[in-house]
Amino acid sequence: MDISAITALAPVIPVLTIERPADGVPLARALVKGGLPVLEITLRTRTAMEALEAIAKEVPDAVVGAGTVLVAAQVEQIQRLGAKFAVSPGSTPDLVTATKAAGLPFLPGVQTVSEAMLLAEQGYRVLKFFPAAPAGGLAWLKAVGAPLAGLRFCPTGGIGADTAQAYLALHNVTCVGGSWVAPAAAVDAKDWSQIERLAAAASNYKRS
Ligand code: 3PG
Repeated sequence: MDISAITALAPVIPVLTIERPADGVPLARALVKGGLPVLEITLRTRTAMEALEAIAKEVPDAVVGAGTVLVAAQVEQIQRLGAKFAVSPGSTPDLVTATKAAGLPFLPGVQTVSEAMLLAEQGYRVLKFFPAAPAGGLAWLKAVGAPLAGLRFCPTGGIGADTAQAYLALHNVTCVGGSWVAPAAAVDAKDWSQIERLAAAASNYKRS
């Protein structure tokens, strides 16, 4: 699967920052059961790599990727642990080279038209728009729809249940990312059924 196919699988990609190793698998199972199979595990905690590996091994219906990938050295490790894709808040030439060399689908982040054009020159057609809300949100995506007609975006950052559907209604939005489907309080309480309900609601959002 390339990144277009992965981002087409569900309208929402849960962005997960996992603090305790034991939380990863039940959290992933709840999200997949709720209808969100594409999961991004941010590499921001000491347990992220362990959680990524456990989910890749034990939740076969999940399509698990690593987020907050900042340096090329992380690419080989996440792929070895079972990541099916990499997400970055931005992009660097080294990350592009490393993910291409590894054959690992990559969702690079952009915040400006020029960044999007540079990645388009290198063959990318699906980009993360980050941080979506502070960087212009719906208005930015609407404004670039005509000039960047060949590109699709996965806006992430500051999106919640109240705004996700409006983003998904835009023709240049393929999916949205966000942490709201796995609130920290629910994870801390191991309230997996609440997370499954939030995922089920998010999986029903309509794309244009
Ligand atoms: C992040 O950086 O944590 C992701 O973009 C998710 O952002 P959110 O917590 O605003 O959904």
